[in-house]
Amino acid sequence: KKRVAILISGGGSNMVSLVDSMGEDHPAMPVLVLANGAEAGGLEKARARGVETAVVDHRPHKGDRASFEEALHARICEAQPDILCLAGFMRVLTEGFVRRWDGRMINIHPSLLPKYTGLNTHARALAAGDTEAGCSVHEVTAELDAGPLLGQARVPVEPGDTPATLAARVLAQEHILYPQVLRRFAAGDKTPVFLP
Ligand code: GAR
Repeated sequence: KKRVAILISGGGSNMVSLVDSMGEDHPAMPVLVLANGAEAGGLEKARARGVETAVVDHRPHKGDRASFEEALHARICEAQPDILCLAGFMRVLTEGFVRRWDGRMINIHPSLLPKYTGLNTHARALAAGDTEAGCSVHEVTAELDAGPLLGQARVPVEPGDTPATLAARVLAQEHILYPQVLRRFAAGDKTPVFLP
């Protein structure tokens, strides 16, 4: 089986959907859930599922991205993963780190890329008057949120939507899309998945 490390910063609902999808018949298995702060709620959910966890806090490395990424890389390597999944990991990774995981690192982003890279995607989609929104899974390259697309799920924007109501509708699709993409990716298939 392919060994998967999942990087998180927060509640880890996407991490949970990935871990729970990796059953007996899956080409991959979770070997590490790593957060960049001990307060990440997802750590407890990973432990409850019997997955090894680690924290590499970015704060002691303030202003020194390279030393944070050295520590991150070292801890990840201990788990010997074949694939890295970013799942709500809110630190931007530099080209040096990304290159080390070239072709082996994927990310989920809450917009229909190439629209709305970066933050506040749902507020921006609403402000633009978009009639649909969604999420994307892509390979991670040095350019932020711009690597090759591996999957996309669309949802309608409903009248009266707020960033929070739209985020919830999109997040439900993230939980369906990301496991489907990981299953294919782990089997060596990079053809994009489009939902619905
Ligand atoms: C998800 O919506 C994910 O797409 C987004 O953060 C949320 C994490 O939720 N990621 C980004 O914005 C990456 N720039 P989760 O911790 O419950 O999975």
